[in-house]
Amino acid sequence: MSDTSKALYETLQQGLADIDARGLRRRRRTIDSACSAHMTVDGRAMIGFASNDYLGLAAHEALREALAEGASLYGAGSGGSHLLGGHSRAHAQLEDDLAAFSGGFVDNPRALYFSTGYMANLAVLSTLAGRGTMVFSDALNHASLIDGVRLSRAQVQIYPHADMEALDAMLDASQADATTKLIVTDTVFSMDGDIAPLQSLVELAEKYGAWLVVDDAHGFGVLGPQGRGALAQFALRSPHLVYVGTLGKAAGVSGAFVAASETVIEWLIQRARPYIFTTASPPAVAHAVSASIGLIGSEDGDARRKHLASLIETTRGMLKRTRWLPVESKTAVQPLVIGGNDETLALAAALDKRGLWVPAIRPPTVPAGTSRLRISLSAAHGDDDLARLDEALGTLSKETT
Ligand SMILES: Cc1ncc(COP(=O)(O)O)c(C=O)c1O
Repeated sequence: MSDTSKALYETLQQGLADIDARGLRRRRRTIDSACSAHMTVDGRAMIGFASNDYLGLAAHEALREALAEGASLYGAGSGGSHLLGGHSRAHAQLEDDLAAFSGGFVDNPRALYFSTGYMANLAVLSTLAGRGTMVFSDALNHASLIDGVRLSRAQVQIYPHADMEALDAMLDASQADATTKLIVTDTVFSMDGDIAPLQSLVELAEKYGAWLVVDDAHGFGVLGPQGRGALAQFALRSPHLVYVGTLGKAAGVSGAFVAASETVIEWLIQRARPYIFTTASPPAVAHAVSASIGLIGSEDGDARRKHLASLIETTRGMLKRTRWLPVESKTAVQPLVIGGNDETLALAAALDKRGLWVPAIRPPTVPAGTSRLRISLSAAHGDDDLARLDEALGTLSKETT
């Protein structure tokens, strides 16, 4: 290797050494089975608390069958981008299903299907916001929202997490500028599990004439009647709303969608580069997601949400008995704040030894000093799975006192 080539590699190697020194190296686990509560991870039987498969649908027989049926109807790949030959009947049907299922917050809703939530967020923000826009973003928003705002080149003001007074003041102060305004928030915050003050956000968006983009990645399928999502849970309606739901979490498959008024969706189709310049996802996947929407809205879905609610209650009680700091969360995301990176990793490793997979979340995903275990619950868990976790946390909590 030449000296100039070596220099390139040395920069990366130093960067990796620095990541190690700060206890921030991330490692992937390899799963040998379907995603469910009980899984084989790196060849070992484990109880998984790491997925976002909140309703336990990822391994559902009906969805496996729908995926196979979709492959037999439409083949393996879409063959092109949505605007150039890749938009199949399965995608079109799914968009109709999604608009009907979760578009009740706006008149004449329409939905647009994306390959991932990350892409959907890049698309919405870079298309609705631009150089002349002022974006107001919650301090704990997901990375994909932050990146979408960056891509838009809009000016951004970050308001303290869920602080509506601060947001009101910021919006008020920006009134003099004739810029477009856009507020953006997670509904359920992915690393804390708390829910944004959506009612107040809608009121502020209407008061100041701003768009309100809500990312319901962790609410769709779980919250609201029949799992229709966070906006349905609080019966919110407004033409200012633009909704992003993801389909690889509670829906158990893959992809995401934007639901909004006809005009917003048509604008995205014409202008959203992350929609236009990429190959459409396999139609079979869209076919399976349609089956999943059917399940989510069914009695089976209701039973799963009911069971999940009881698991959440049990977990809240369990975490309060440890010596660490549970985050006040009423959703399937139940974080336990440990503090330092090394201590969090050691605890995750001790749980791992006991056959319990609970991921350690560290900066930059969460603020420094708030490293945590993120316990993610699924309707696929049984009470006995929680009992195993309870016992392990109880023992470890005493050991490390
Ligand atoms: C709040 C939030 N938004 C968006 C995404 C991205 O969705 P996807 O995994 O479908 O890209 C995620 C998680 O991955 C998320 O937690």
